[in-house]
Amino acid sequence: MPRLVVVSNRTADLRKPAAGGLAVALGESLQKMGGMWFGWSGKIVDTYSEGHPGNGGVDPEVDVQRVGKVTLATVDLSRADHDAYYLGYSNDVLWPVFHYRLDLANFDVRFATGYRRVNQMFARKLMPLLKPDDIVWVHDYHLIPLASELRALGCKNRIGFFLHIPMPPPLIMAAIPEHEWLMRSLFAFDLVGFQSRADLMHFSHYVEAEAQAKSLGDGYFSAFDRVMRAGAFPIGIDVDEFQRLAQGKEGMDMFTRMRDEYSRRKLLIGADRLDYSKGLPNRIKAFREFLEHYPENRKSATLIQIASPSREDVEAYGEIRRQMDSLCGAVNGDFGELDWMPVRYIHRNVARKRLPGLFRASRVALVTPLRDGMNLVAKEFIAAQDPDDPGMLVLSRFAGAAEQLGDALLVNPYDTEGTAHAIQRALTMPLHERRQRHARLLKRIREQDVHWWTSQFLATLQEAHT
Ligand code: ADP
Ligand code: G6P
Repeated sequence: MPRLVVVSNRTADLRKPAAGGLAVALGESLQKMGGMWFGWSGKIVDTYSEGHPGNGGVDPEVDVQRVGKVTLATVDLSRADHDAYYLGYSNDVLWPVFHYRLDLANFDVRFATGYRRVNQMFARKLMPLLKPDDIVWVHDYHLIPLASELRALGCKNRIGFFLHIPMPPPLIMAAIPEHEWLMRSLFAFDLVGFQSRADLMHFSHYVEAEAQAKSLGDGYFSAFDRVMRAGAFPIGIDVDEFQRLAQGKEGMDMFTRMRDEYSRRKLLIGADRLDYSKGLPNRIKAFREFLEHYPENRKSATLIQIASPSREDVEAYGEIRRQMDSLCGAVNGDFGELDWMPVRYIHRNVARKRLPGLFRASRVALVTPLRDGMNLVAKEFIAAQDPDDPGMLVLSRFAGAAEQLGDALLVNPYDTEGTAHAIQRALTMPLHERRQRHARLLKRIREQDVHWWTSQFLATLQEAHT
């Protein structure tokens, strides 16, 4: 069996229990196949230490550690590289544009230069570590040019890429000054995976319109003198693992505490990174509308919104924080009573072990992004429910998960009234309907779980003839 080499901007500490579907999935595949995980260490240094010359400067040293059958190879980033590649191009250009937010993008040419520089450095550092028959699997928007940089150094390995975020329609993509270079770079991979059929369609429309690509059938495309394959591989969660967490001590403690505290009230839950793609202000406005429109819920419905701090050095994230503070404050000020606050807004991370208990104690989850690659929280909420008395998922039609989870209550998060109505419907849905919908949703997330995702992608990559 060939060795698997995973490359991603963030790596996980394999000695600790993995948090998040991606780390679980990749960690497990790596442990099974044996392999290497390469990426940023998460550390920022002033400058790289002397003695490791790269192209036109000094490269960081690779730190190599062995954890079981897995080699963890990481590099630090200098402040300048981190700011241009991670904060700048990745999160101030690609993230907003790929989430359809041209208004938030900051097209600074220095960001593009830094992005390319770090991808070249990653390629230089990774190349000597590769064996000829390794399978390389690159993850996410930080590393779109990596295969093309590896190929420039003579790499002949099979290389796959998975985009965890949405692929925008061609005319939005075309707003990025370097769009052609980015799309050309994708053709250096043998297989490119997207989260949804909609993303795959946007990719195919782009390359046919802008790069005169020929679709050769079966997901193969020919353009820029190369043939590559593309497909939709919706990422899943480890359902059993999440259910084990729900039954674990911390999960159960959380569940009983919340159930007792809300025994005479209806608990709604939202849990997201504090990111403008998650539609949090729209969600609070819809909840407010719900309280206005269905006054019987006043004093009895509470929304707990957990928003973990994220990318706080990027300006747009400061703005969303201010908006949330003001919207939540206004709902509580206008509707709150001495013994009831409509919104409990928590700007912090919650320990992963407690989330399933919180989800299980909630009657409704609000997962209402304006645009999202997949949204794993939607799947985690389903996994955590008691099948005999399950809570209901209100899901944005603009989350990648909506393609699979049609049995949730799908909403348009821009439609405040429609979302408010769906919240009321979710809270008043009869038990038999909740059970039926939940059974179908659970079946779906079990069929296409994280193990399915990993094996589908890797099998397709191994058989791709490019
Ligand atoms: P994204 O990858 O954009 O953050 P996802 O919903 O796909 O969105 O994945 C988020 C992951 O992080 C999920 O596993 C979720 O349980 C976890 N998570 C999200 N918000 C929080 C929070 N506030 N505290 C702890 N974990 C969180
Ligand atoms: C999304 C992206 C990931 C990223 C994660 C957390 O899930 O698709 O690539 O790692 O958000 O963001 P951060 O910027 O903290 O890595």
